[in-house]
Parts: sequence; structure tokens; C-alpha cells
Amino acid sequence: MCGIVGFVGKTNCLPIVYNGLETLEYRGYDSAGIAYIYNNKINIIKEKGKLINLKDKLDFNISSKIAIGHTRWATHGNANKTNAHPHQVGKFTVVHNGIIENYIDLKNKLLKKGYQFKSETDTEVISALLDYNYKLEKDILKSINKTKNELVGSFALGILCSDDIKNIYALRYSSPLILASFTNGNFLASDIPAIINYTNKYILLDDLEIAKLNEDKITIYNKDLKEKKIKYHIFNGEKTSVQKNGYEHFMLKEINEEDKVFKETINSYFDGTLKSLNENFGFLKKYKKFDIVACGSAYHTGVIAKSLIENYANIIVHTEVASEYRYKKCFYDKDTLVILVSQSGETADTLAALRKAKNDKIKTMAIVNVLDSSIAREADYVIYTKAGPEIAVATTKAYVSQLTIFSLITLYLAYINNNLDKIEINNIIKDIKLLPKLIKKEIKNYQTYYNIADKIYHNKQIFFIGRGLDYANSLEGALKLKEISYINSVAYQAGELKHGTISLIENKTPVIAIATDELIIDKTISNIKEIKARNAYVIYVSNTKPKDIFYDDFIQIEKVHPILQSILTIIPLQLLAYKVAKNNKCDIDKPRNLAKSVTVE
Ligand code: AGP
Ligand code: GLU
Repeated sequence: MCGIVGFVGKTNCLPIVYNGLETLEYRGYDSAGIAYIYNNKINIIKEKGKLINLKDKLDFNISSKIAIGHTRWATHGNANKTNAHPHQVGKFTVVHNGIIENYIDLKNKLLKKGYQFKSETDTEVISALLDYNYKLEKDILKSINKTKNELVGSFALGILCSDDIKNIYALRYSSPLILASFTNGNFLASDIPAIINYTNKYILLDDLEIAKLNEDKITIYNKDLKEKKIKYHIFNGEKTSVQKNGYEHFMLKEINEEDKVFKETINSYFDGTLKSLNENFGFLKKYKKFDIVACGSAYHTGVIAKSLIENYANIIVHTEVASEYRYKKCFYDKDTLVILVSQSGETADTLAALRKAKNDKIKTMAIVNVLDSSIAREADYVIYTKAGPEIAVATTKAYVSQLTIFSLITLYLAYINNNLDKIEINNIIKDIKLLPKLIKKEIKNYQTYYNIADKIYHNKQIFFIGRGLDYANSLEGALKLKEISYINSVAYQAGELKHGTISLIENKTPVIAIATDELIIDKTISNIKEIKARNAYVIYVSNTKPKDIFYDDFIQIEKVHPILQSILTIIPLQLLAYKVAKNNKCDIDKPRNLAKSVTVE
């Protein structure tokens, strides 16, 4: 969510900071700003809307060697110029990613001390508090340290102080922040794309650590303000992977990478033998129950995993949305493994759920895409998905890689619990080998889905229905469509419709009906006939051609073992959503109001 980029060095920093913000645009934002030091003074330029508005106001020719920039995703106060960051109070100028939960109390205290506020943001309170504490402590580091102990919430901060125009200060708690050096200076940034054009070496700032960056070096201070030895990490992803490579949108590019992502994820944990699964997932044997906790699409992979693991491995799985799980009574015990699923590894609610479990001494496992992200670092076990950088806000390839991991886990658990015979295991292994080709084949068939999209894109609401696993697939299909096309699309269990929702079906209301589970296909078909009788426009998605025609359009998907089926079911739904959004001229890679990495609660 939002982006922070700071640079201090020997070279003109405004183009570097601005370009860095551009690389973080995909995360989602609604205003932007930069504070830079020029003529020994801190200057601030900010604008509402896209970065281009800010660009028009910046003079890239002036020689400024130190700047902090920000793209804001509003949480406190409208998305307008006044609320845009940086926020300056007294001697302190701040860019902030996160939420300060006790900002009202702090603001009231500071108002009594004579501070005045221009914006509605929680961030401006941080600047004022820093200034106030600086007056007491008369030392920048001590003031930051005191401030950090008074803030409640999540924060990644870039800080400038007018009494020290050679350094940028940084601090983080529960929001990501990295640091990096290259020959001409030092960076701080909320994500790797901002630095990757200069270096692949970076430093992770830990919670409650403070960093000081000047043109020569980076110094990190631990919780007690003692200097800490710096540890560098290497980013091994390709630079080119954050380019569109000729595709019109990142989302389309990323869907087209799904066969490769599936293969890479499989190859990392499975060489075709059950022995390799034992080596990678053997630790799972210790647990009798799983709690799968995640948000959004990652949560949907957990709904699918629950169905698969319970059916095939006879193990109880409880799947829950992280924002609920973190505040509810959990009935976990030493036999429970809490599994957190996250592409970014920074989702605030998922991270909080992880910390809650750890606090209660329950073991945790993360299924994460971003290397060294907070969730990956804090979990007891980590399984990395191999999707590579995902830029489009709507997840596609990372979702497929999460499903791939759950397929392998189900296969392994079903095998050790003796729930699958040899023939079935061999069939699954055969399907795993076939899958990249089948994924490609389904993607190649895009015109079929696009033609359907052309027929339904103008509708105000679209329903998705399915039973069991196919209900889980419906949830993801509906989310994909609504997040990028802004059409109200909702998923229902097919059997539940007649208990209320069927009243919404009007003449030609589009209903995307998914049926891949052969045990209950006929039941779903009966439900489809009920809505067809009420003149719905039915798009039937199945791996089996039906005997009679009860649909308006049919999407035939490839049939594989149910452990793998959902990977193929989602592809037409992703491409359908893409084309509907395109026809509606939506900002596909950066849908309104959304952020790629949701680092606030
Ligand atoms: C999916 O397309 C969404 N952008 C969103 O639901 C996402 O899956 C969710 O925010 C979780 O993100 P994470 O995987 O990075 O934790
Ligand atoms: N809470 C801050 C604000 O609303 C920061 C939001 C962000 O992370 O962009 O300004």
C-alpha cells in the first residue's frame, strides 16, 4: 500500500526519487509528494491524483542531493492535496506508510501544547510529535526513539529534520521498509522495484529499528539505540520481470506466465517422487489440525485447500479471513499448525494473525511469494511460491502458485494418511506433468472467453454459483471480476440460491455456473435449470460436456484430478474478468481504491 522512496547521495536525487515512486505505482495510491533539500531548505511539492500531476510541478534540473517521496493510499482524510504527504510540522518532515491508531489522543495532547494541524491525517501527528520530542530531547535520534515508543499502529517512516540537512532518518513497525546502497548514494524504499535499477543488494529494517542514511553510509540503530551490524540480502529475481514485455497489461502478462509459474513451483518441491514431498513437507506430519488464515484471493486458496485436505487427507481444516481471525477466540492447540497465505507477505491482518498465533505459542507456516517479507521472516516454517514479482493489483499467477502448493500438500497428506491408492497417486502425478500444457491450452482459448465478455460487460451485476470446490472457485471468479471491472459480482453456493438470492434473477441476468466435481455435477445442473427457468443468462463452466443444453454459453475446461482442477478452472474466469474490465475501459492493473500490498488494518 502506498510507496516510500528516499535518496541521499552525490547525484541529483529528484529524478531518482520520482522514478522510484513510478516503480511503486502498481501498489495503488491517490496522491503523491516529494520533500527535497535545496538551498539548505526543505521544500515540499505535492499533488492529488497520479504521479504525472506531481511531475509537472517538479524541476528536475535543480541540484538536490537529498529527498523523500511518497505515494499515498488515503486512510485518514480524503485523497486531496492537503492530506498528501510529506507532512511538515516545526523542524520535522515525514512520509508515512501505515496507520497510527492512537493519533486522536496524541493530537489532543499536542493541540494542548500549542501545535496546529493543517490536514486530517494521522501522519501529521507524527511530525508534530517528533518536533515536540525534539524540543525535549534536543537530539534527533532520541526524539525518534521517544516518538516510536508513543506511537500505536503500523508505520514505515522517512524523516527529514531541518537541523540536519545531510541525513534521512527511517523507522518502521509492521510496515515494510528496505534500505540499499549504490555507488552514488543510499536509498530507503518500501519495496524492491524502487531500487532494482541501481542495485540488487538490500537491507531489511526490522521492527522498531531506526536507520540514518547520508551520502556515505547507512547506520542502523536497534531498539536501544545501539549501532547494529548491517546484513545485506540479495534479490535474485530478474529485472525484466517487472516490465510488461509487450503485453498491454501486467495482468495479461501474468496470466500468460501461469504455466511457467506452475512448473517452477512444482519443480521446487516435487521431483516426481513422494520422497521429495516428504523432504519438503515432512514437518506437516506433526500436526492434526490446520488453521488457514489469509485475505482476499489468498483466503480463497485456503477455502479450496480446506475442501481438498479434508476430503483427501481426512484432516480437519479451519479456513478464516485474517481480519476476523486476529480478533476472535481461537481453539487452536499444540496439534494445530496455523498456515498464513500471502503473495506480498506484508498484509497487515495476515501478519497480525501470525503474531497472535506465535504469541499463543502455536506453530505457524507461511506460504508466501515475496522473499524475506515480514510474514516469511516471522513464521516458523516458510514455503515460497515461485510466481516471481506480481505487479497487477489483481492477483493471478501468484494465486495459481498458492493453489499449486496446496495441491502438493494435499497429495502428500493424503499419501501419508493412506487415503489414496497407488493408481490414483500415479494419475495425479501424470496430471501434474500434463498441467503446464493444459494451462497453456486454456490461455490460448482466450477468444472464447472474450466473446462471452463482449456479451455481458455492460451488466450491473453478475452472479457466480457452484458447489463445494466450485463454490470456492466462484468466490475467486467473482472477486477477480468485481475488483477490476467494478461490476457487482457475487458468488453463491448453488444450492442456497432458492433460499433468497434467486429473487435477484431477472431476464438475462448473467450467471456464471461452475461445475467440475463429478459427484455433485447433477445437483448443480438442477440449480442451474432453476435459474434458467427464470430467464437468467447462463454461462456454464465445466470439465464435462453436458448431455442437454441448459446454458447460453459453454466454457469447456480441461479435466484433471480434483486436487489440481481448480488451477484450470480459474484461468477462463481470470481472462473473462480481464476482457470485461477492458471493454469497460477500467484501469486494469491499478483498479480504483485498491492497493497491491495492504499494509494497513
Ligand atoms: C486479489 O486480486 C486482491 N488484490 C486481494 O484480495 C489480495 O489477494 C489480498 O489483499 C491478499 O494479499 P496478499 O496475498 O498479498 O496477502
Ligand atoms: N495513514 C496515512 C494517511 O492516511 C498514510 C496512508 C498510507 O499508507 O498511504 O495519510
